[in-house]
Amino acid sequence: MKSGSVVEFRFSETNVAVMVSERPMRVAIVGLGTVGSGVVKILVEQAERIRRRAGREIEITSVIVRDPTKARSVSHVDDLIDTSLEAIKADDVDVVCELIGGTTTAGDVVRQALLAGKHVVTANKALICEQGEELFQLAREKNKVICFEAAVAGGIPIIEAVTQSLAANQITSIEGILNGTSNYILTEMFDRNVSYDDAVVKAQKKGYAEADPAMDVDGTDAAQKLTILVQLAFGTKADLKSFPRQGIDSLDLADLRYADQLGFRIKLLAVAKLHGQSLELHTQPTLIRKQQPMADVYDAYNMIEIEGDAVGRTWFSGMGAGQMPTASAVVSDLIDLAVGRAQQTFPLLDLWSEREPLPILPAEQIERRYYLRFHAMDKPGTMAAITAILGRHQVSIASCIQYEAEGKSNSSFVPLVIMTHHCQEGQMRAADLELAECKAIGKNYLRLPIRE
Ligand code: NAP
Ligand code: HSE
Repeated sequence: MKSGSVVEFRFSETNVAVMVSERPMRVAIVGLGTVGSGVVKILVEQAERIRRRAGREIEITSVIVRDPTKARSVSHVDDLIDTSLEAIKADDVDVVCELIGGTTTAGDVVRQALLAGKHVVTANKALICEQGEELFQLAREKNKVICFEAAVAGGIPIIEAVTQSLAANQITSIEGILNGTSNYILTEMFDRNVSYDDAVVKAQKKGYAEADPAMDVDGTDAAQKLTILVQLAFGTKADLKSFPRQGIDSLDLADLRYADQLGFRIKLLAVAKLHGQSLELHTQPTLIRKQQPMADVYDAYNMIEIEGDAVGRTWFSGMGAGQMPTASAVVSDLIDLAVGRAQQTFPLLDLWSEREPLPILPAEQIERRYYLRFHAMDKPGTMAAITAILGRHQVSIASCIQYEAEGKSNSSFVPLVIMTHHCQEGQMRAADLELAECKAIGKNYLRLPIRE
């Protein structure tokens, strides 16, 4: 609470004593795109609800954009639009809300805000993943707070769940669908017969995708979110290059159909599992049995399954992307700051702290079953060649389906799907090298893990 502010306690309609300050909390919003516009909508259109829950008014002092002439979906703050980032340093600003994305200017905004003595709210997982260590250190030095509920899984309060609601537990595993765009694209392709390219465009129009949608479809965005959860749950800094990462851009519609026939759905799954003292990490499209809750997550919804040593298994689900769900998370952070809750919890977060990090399990030692899809030459000896390679690396086959060429195709290549028994990633990688040299196999061989 700032010195000089007037604080009192009043009884709300539900007879709960709430802290009330006569002084509004003043916020500079940087970025008025998908998320920024949603935040403005809630703060302006629900001002009375927010005031009641925050114990004081949350007032927007300025809104900084790149192009002031652009048509906006909100008109409430037309008079406050500015293009100079100097506005974030103004004396009357308490909190800077960074909603521009990217890491260069966004990093400068957060640094400048902290140096000027402002708290920060951000939805930017790329920034936290890349510069979190430095920014959280700076925040601690300046006795300020960085709130980032919206950075992981959009509207789902997963940061609060991991850091507060499950604080009694040692988390032992986190598995989640963390990218709304990928999940939306997979749903459009499989359930609505939309082409991959059209589904990407639709995800962009709906405001789900990153400015560069490659970050969504190549698995980077989900991996960035996983590293943040891993920091919170295990105190480990995971470099994006230190674990397997694959996106949905490597899939064909046919793979979704083959998986379906085998009783699975394919989802982009981010996984962090504790094995003794080391962590198994990966973010990959994964075959999930249809009976599991995670297989039933559609559109831009996310789901995170967290297992703790006391609570057991828990599931969190909701919209993982989009304007209002993300704005909901940003505004909840603002309310936490206005009430003073975030100032108490932030110093206790296990984010880039002094704690000894857990080592990451070498990728070669990860043990799973795999789905292998080949375009294989339709001639004698092909199957023998493939199974010989797998056999040499002790990869055991659980089932195998060869599909006939579709329609009147003259192609000499036909789809071949093999499901393996459990084996190590290292065995599969060694087999991959030989499979790549096998003349009986076409180029776009695909290997995906299976979640039992
Ligand atoms: P967006 O629609 O592209 O909006 C970005 C906004 O930032 C625009 O208003 C843009 O100004 C402004 N901006 C960009 N560079 C700027 C600069 N150098 N100076 C001043 N303003 C600048 O992005 P978004 O979807 O709202 O995403 C914002 C952040 O939220 C990202 O970090 C993203 O990862 C995160 N996030 C997004 C979602 C989602 O569903 N969209 C969900 C969770 C988290 P102009 O309008 O003038 O161009
Ligand atoms: N592009 C991200 C997604 C936004 O689709 O999940 C939410 O972080």
